[in-house]
Amino acid sequence: MKSFYLTTAIDYVNGSPHLGHAYEKVLSDVIARTKRMQGQDVFFLTGTDEHGQKIQQSARAKGVPTQQFVDETAAEFVQLAKLLNLSNNDFIRTTEPRHKQVVRDCLQQLFDKGEIYKAEYKGFYSPRQEQFLQEKDRLPDGKWPEIFGEVIEITESNYFFKLRAYQQWLIDYITAHEDFVFPAHRRKSLLEFLSEPLNDLCISRPKDRLEWGIPLPFDENYVTYVWFDALLNYYTAVKDNGRWPADFNVIGKDILIPAHGIYWPIMLHALGLPPPKALLVHGWWSVNGAKMSKSTGNFVDPVEFTKTWNVDSLRYFLVREMTVGMDADFSQEQFLVRYNSELANSLGNLVNRTLNMTTRFAAGVVPTAEVTEDPERELQALWPKTRDEFFALCDGFQFHIALERAMQFITATNAYIEKRAPWKLAKDPSPAAQAQLRTTLATIAEALRLGSALLWPVMPAAVDKIRTGLALPPLAQWEGELEWGGRLAGAKLGAVDILFPKPATEKKG
Ligand code: MSP
Repeated sequence: MKSFYLTTAIDYVNGSPHLGHAYEKVLSDVIARTKRMQGQDVFFLTGTDEHGQKIQQSARAKGVPTQQFVDETAAEFVQLAKLLNLSNNDFIRTTEPRHKQVVRDCLQQLFDKGEIYKAEYKGFYSPRQEQFLQEKDRLPDGKWPEIFGEVIEITESNYFFKLRAYQQWLIDYITAHEDFVFPAHRRKSLLEFLSEPLNDLCISRPKDRLEWGIPLPFDENYVTYVWFDALLNYYTAVKDNGRWPADFNVIGKDILIPAHGIYWPIMLHALGLPPPKALLVHGWWSVNGAKMSKSTGNFVDPVEFTKTWNVDSLRYFLVREMTVGMDADFSQEQFLVRYNSELANSLGNLVNRTLNMTTRFAAGVVPTAEVTEDPERELQALWPKTRDEFFALCDGFQFHIALERAMQFITATNAYIEKRAPWKLAKDPSPAAQAQLRTTLATIAEALRLGSALLWPVMPAAVDKIRTGLALPPLAQWEGELEWGGRLAGAKLGAVDILFPKPATEKKG
């Protein structure tokens, strides 16, 4: 069985999870579930990033011990993973002993190989961004951009990782591996960034400035720079099960350069390990056209949201609305447009009609198809086209169009029902009409079985409910499940709760 390893970025625990965090996790989960359905042996990792200045500062601002603070916030992210129905195989926290050990081992190895050296460093430092700044970071008027907060000048002895020595190797690597970064325009930006000389990376912080980190194994007066620590999580989780390198590190656009696109492959290469096979870089969500921000209230809390709308509909919206790699906007209005037209009126409606009409016209038992006329021929021809396009689109990360195709098949099935009008056929006792009626019921059950199977990675709970209604077990694999046939003939259909109800507040209008 082909093994497939994918990871999400690990979230900082200095605040509660928001929609952006939820998106990345859902996107990754959809990929993980798709690969599993295709028969691959998937290992899917997510987790939390718990060291560094910002976290220490947030804990102090709240007046709680840092460990307690990270335990409490990390628990919210663990909860979110459950709420979103993620199929992750592991959840890593960078404060766990298994991770600290790996970070220390890797640092020691690099130190022993001469990849790390100590030097005096004088420069402008942004505590908020936890980074030293360069002259080119200044605004034209000489001030530092707002995002850096208060900037201070400091002189420190620190440890440096020889990043620059590997710059040409990295350029050659990225040039030779077209698929290393998706989408292509991000790969281009990365190569452009690499056309300027890199500085070596300062990987230590003196303990008197920052306590909350992993002590350097070769000098306990320092802790490890948070990115050097965090990136290694992807390796920690699988180093003993032989799954490195990752097939995908899924990340947001803000953490490609320099962290994942430069530090990470070079760190691995210096350690004698291969880079991840690909970095999948997604865009950012805005909310109502503006940057998401807790302070202005322009914010979507996935936990609150799913108190009103079920998780599958949120998962569907996130994947349907965003083109992987591009930005997208979240608004209640747009959510409702998709919820009503695609989920409630199209998919939900097909489920209800299939079950209700089979109950009414065939005592709940799916008949055998007896005739193949134009309406059946059309729908049956649409199926393999839909399925094949769906998989090609998923392979190219075009999940939003893949979902559109699957939904078009559902819509076509609803249109088929209108064409056949089983309620009219039921009133016509002629053998021809009765054969058409049985065929119609068999056809829509089969179309629902197939169409919904494609939606499983995005809405696993809803699809498994549909399958229960169709007297089928939860979906475990796609193999053997995606051919048009008479699979459901003789099945006694069950009841299904309304899948996409309109909540009370929406019913009034
Ligand atoms: N801790 C680092 C990642 C370390 S990975 C070794 C970090 N954490 S984060 O909490 O700030 O962001 C986690 C992920 O969420 C990142 O991939 C980031 O791009 C993503 N998002 C944060 N805000 C987002 C949106 N508004 N929209 C989409 N994704 C967003 O960076």
